[in-house]
Amino acid sequence: MQKLRVLSGMQPSGRMHLGNLIGALQNWIKLQEENECFFFVADWHAISTSYENTKDIKENIKQMLIDWLACGLDPAKSTLFIQSHVEEHAILHLLLSMITPVSWLERNPTYKEQQEQIKNRDLSTYGFLGYPVLQSADILIYKADAVPVGVDQLPHLELTREIARRFNYLYANKRSGGAGRSRAWSGGIESSVAWSGILTEPNALLTEIPKLPGTDGRKMSKSYNNAIYISDPVDVFENKVKNLITDPARVRRTDKGNPDVCTAFVFHKIYSNADDVSQIDRDCRMAAIGCTDCKKRLLDKMKTTIKPVWEKRKELSANAKRVFEIAEAGSMKAKEIASNTLKEVKEAMRI
Ligand code: TRP
Ligand code: SF4
Repeated sequence: MQKLRVLSGMQPSGRMHLGNLIGALQNWIKLQEENECFFFVADWHAISTSYENTKDIKENIKQMLIDWLACGLDPAKSTLFIQSHVEEHAILHLLLSMITPVSWLERNPTYKEQQEQIKNRDLSTYGFLGYPVLQSADILIYKADAVPVGVDQLPHLELTREIARRFNYLYANKRSGGAGRSRAWSGGIESSVAWSGILTEPNALLTEIPKLPGTDGRKMSKSYNNAIYISDPVDVFENKVKNLITDPARVRRTDKGNPDVCTAFVFHKIYSNADDVSQIDRDCRMAAIGCTDCKKRLLDKMKTTIKPVWEKRKELSANAKRVFEIAEAGSMKAKEIASNTLKEVKEAMRI
């Protein structure tokens, strides 16, 4: 059976933290074992929300690529590339924008939500409204079967499907044949890949993202200043883990604790084995273990897991040229496919 083509992108909005790793990235790393994977740095998307500050983008792209490679995305298995290095995305974006009703974009819940929530940035641009059209171009230009995303991206995926359908309806039947890709699909939200016409309607591969709390117990997020970064220096990393907020009702060492309300315990569930977790659960409730010791044990476990990542990171940071070579090779490979699709699109549109 032909492999599924999987594609996803991530904005280079800064260094990656453990929440990103446990969420999206680890899922990508798993997917690359059995699928034909394309993962890219969505640098143009990053500009849509911070056009006034582009000076950090190059560095952010580099750091993101280093994080990806250090954590285990493998250029021998996945095609890793940079969106802006495959300019075909922009051309398809332009063409798709011609057939996309503005009302589809205005009613997009993500768009409305961000307009309401993000007050410190100018989101009233044409580019921001068209963000999901660019995202659709990213996906459709590879005829991706499946797109691993979090739940917040589902409206964008639905829009991508609608745009593909509209394109196929408008143009595909004017062309005989058509080089569509048909694949068996099982395990997705929908169980059949319907294809007719040139563009493939992608399925969302909804990623079960466990909500990783930050050091203060709120959701781990760059903007909350509570994130533990993959690239944190060892001493910073250690301090953050040691200062993770615990059961606030457990003031004295002799107080019995409740792991269910403890942030450190959430991390234990990720980094410690099941036996240790249930032991800690019991000991905490009986005050048989103190928080300092508990977190020290956690830190040891976390360091064991992340040490190889740190080492790889160090190696890659010292060899940025190599990192960009990998992305360049990936971009060339991506470009080949993208330019083929674009050619078909133009033929179908008779332009
Ligand atoms: N919008 C996505 C995000 O913010 C990033 C993205 C851009 C993307 N293009 C994509 C994800 C294509 C999947 C497929 O997370
Ligand atoms: Fe949390 Fe461990 Fe302290 Fe219990 S003992 S409150 S699980 S840090």
